[in-house]
Amino acid sequence: MIELNPLAIELNEKIQSVNPVVFDLLSSLGQRSYVSRGILSQSMEANLKAYRLNATRAAALENDSAMHLESSRGFAPEFAPNMIYSYAPALGQIELRKQWKIQMIAENPTLEGKSFGTPIVTSGMTHGFSLIGDLFVDEGDVLVLPDKIWGNYQSIFGRKHGAEIVTYPFFNSQYRLNTNGFSERLMQAGEQHKKLIVILNFPHNPTGYAINSEEARQTTQAIKRVAEGGSQLLIIVDDAYFGLWYDGDVLHESIFGWLTNLHPNIIPVKIDGATKQEYAWGLRVGFLTFGLDEEEMKPLEEKMIALIRVSTSGAAQLSQTMVYQAMGTPEYKSEKQQKYEILKARALKVREVVYAASYTELWEAYPFQAGYFMCIRLKQGNAEVVRQHLLDEYGIGIVSLGDNDLRIAYSCVEESEIQSLFDTIAEAIRA
Ligand SMILES: Cc1ncc(COP(=O)(O)O)c(C=O)c1O
Repeated sequence: MIELNPLAIELNEKIQSVNPVVFDLLSSLGQRSYVSRGILSQSMEANLKAYRLNATRAAALENDSAMHLESSRGFAPEFAPNMIYSYAPALGQIELRKQWKIQMIAENPTLEGKSFGTPIVTSGMTHGFSLIGDLFVDEGDVLVLPDKIWGNYQSIFGRKHGAEIVTYPFFNSQYRLNTNGFSERLMQAGEQHKKLIVILNFPHNPTGYAINSEEARQTTQAIKRVAEGGSQLLIIVDDAYFGLWYDGDVLHESIFGWLTNLHPNIIPVKIDGATKQEYAWGLRVGFLTFGLDEEEMKPLEEKMIALIRVSTSGAAQLSQTMVYQAMGTPEYKSEKQQKYEILKARALKVREVVYAASYTELWEAYPFQAGYFMCIRLKQGNAEVVRQHLLDEYGIGIVSLGDNDLRIAYSCVEESEIQSLFDTIAEAIRA
């Protein structure tokens, strides 16, 4: 057991006084973390006060702005050198953080009037998950997940942090969201453990399923019941595919708003980003937003600074500038709408094609209303064999999941190719 630094103790006491549940949920690394009174804090202080000369940071200045090579500057001529080359603040550019929050409120009516933190910028969403793992997950902590997931949850929380993963079937026998199964599994876990971690992901990877409001009500009620029973829950809401809903019957906002301020034992954190919803995968700009108020966020942000400093040390300045500047352009909304329409047309085309009578002996499609993907469940053949055959014989790549499921990222396929894609999958199954 490593002895806690007095600064970590002080920070922990602050967290305990503003939100004892957050304190109880901290991992041992989370408890140990603090921003040392070293170069970082001195240079943060100088950023605020050193109006004459700031000779604190390990960077170089020229003509009052970030030194740089003209050869690279020419590729982003519109941005000031400081907005490309200098270090961004550890928690991200404040203007971008505020703008993301404004957008979040506009797109999530349930958040209206609720207090929640200013989004913290991460180096892509995966980094956000990793930070949450660092801050909250210790070996043996219980993580409740459905049986169909984005595989990186296992790697981050299971392999890296040693969480014990307990699962429930994502779909019920009618291929609707298995809210009863979720509720039972959570109740059971709550009877055995005080600390619980849950991940909710809608629109869902791999199936493309989106939650509807009745299912969201049942899900939040189940969580609330367990919280009322005395468990303390960290609910991680993975909103990677936020906004990409192609169906009027599903919830067009994040369940994060429903969970925020729901019960003191529920600590919701939303992970989203520019990655999928702004079509900027390689920019690596993600956001972490806690359903906690400003007072509660202050010490938690310090913990985050400490953890960011020992991982990426901060997200790329240029990427943040690009995302922020794009959000301020007059074309931003209409361009997003246009890309959304393209993806929606592909999703509707898949719907038109995938249920054809000629395929019914081969597969059934899991319901899908959103995101980038859909999955089929094979009635004959082995999914991995079919995948390899498709790749080797037809030069087509899709993903096999277990023995029976195939995931098709129709987001990567032109609408005009969709019929032929499914015809070829059918041929490969019959081969
Ligand atoms: C559900 C889900 N969450 C998170 C991510 C990771 O996003 P990022 O590339 O920003 O790390 C992905 C990427 O495939 C995803 O499908």
